[in-house]
Amino acid sequence: MAQAQTKTKHVRIEEEDESLISALPTREGWWEPFFLLQGFWLSPSITKSVMVLRDQFHPRHNDISLATYPKCGTTWLKALAFAITNGSDHPVTGYCHPLLSHNPHDLMPKLERPFQHLTRTLTLGRVVHLCREPKDVLCVRMVPHQEGAPRLVHRVDRAFEFFCEGFSFYGPIWEHYLGYWKQSKMEGEKGLFLNYDEMIAEPTRHVKMLAEFLRVPFTDEESRGAVEEVVRLCSFQNLKSLPVNSQGVSKRNGLENSSFFRTGKVGDWTNHMTVEMAQKLDCIIEEKLRGSGLTF
Ligand code: A3P
Repeated sequence: MAQAQTKTKHVRIEEEDESLISALPTREGWWEPFFLLQGFWLSPSITKSVMVLRDQFHPRHNDISLATYPKCGTTWLKALAFAITNGSDHPVTGYCHPLLSHNPHDLMPKLERPFQHLTRTLTLGRVVHLCREPKDVLCVRMVPHQEGAPRLVHRVDRAFEFFCEGFSFYGPIWEHYLGYWKQSKMEGEKGLFLNYDEMIAEPTRHVKMLAEFLRVPFTDEESRGAVEEVVRLCSFQNLKSLPVNSQGVSKRNGLENSSFFRTGKVGDWTNHMTVEMAQKLDCIIEEKLRGSGLTF
């Protein structure tokens, strides 16, 4: 009986969601039409996921969400968070550490929601957000991840224009950043806002900061070696070299596992963008972030 009632409720929610989705603004241009949900452009399947999560996901007080705009270093952040929070069950120096045999995405569950869709989680739980220089984020979308691999988009000029207009997957990127940035400024204990370039420059300091935020700080004694071990285990070079990350196709999304590990470099945009493109995007980002205190 209870099961039948639940099923009926789910069908009702699905029907309501379908009619809500069909009323959303849409725009064509990417591989399929995107929907504009609460200010963000989402693919049809992600729009549906957001609706389902909104209806059915009930966050707990001690939940921690990792939030990233795609291509900002999600894979890295997941690996670090896993290594840090599971340090007692899986010592980072162990030969059988799960990160040696699993892609980081397979070790951390994924929810599909930009900030504005996360309000319930934010009231209760905490969020780590990782941002990245927007030109590098866009660059990942414009170039193949390895020689011979197809581009993520076929028309570089269109991808650039769309990105500048805010019409990108989960975009506008600046709205994505600003939501988490403001929250981390207003409620520091609930939001940790990290920057990819700064993490690359000082990984040890950031791993310690992340561990403190995740409430599993390294002791003074551990700090001597364990932090460096986490940094090494989760480093781009190490993860990229593992067969689990360099071969095969992900069962989750059909993407090549290697597509999550391209160059891992800061400033690769200089190799793929003209000066004019860079200046245009810089101006847009500066204008959109003006007054927030967030700069790139
Ligand atoms: P590049 O394409 O510039 O190399 P996401 O995980 O959000 O899809 O982001 C992918 C970007 O993060 C890629 O950037 C990828 O190479 C980089 N990356 C993946 N693992 C990393 C790691 N362990 N350390 C640093 N960067 C990493």
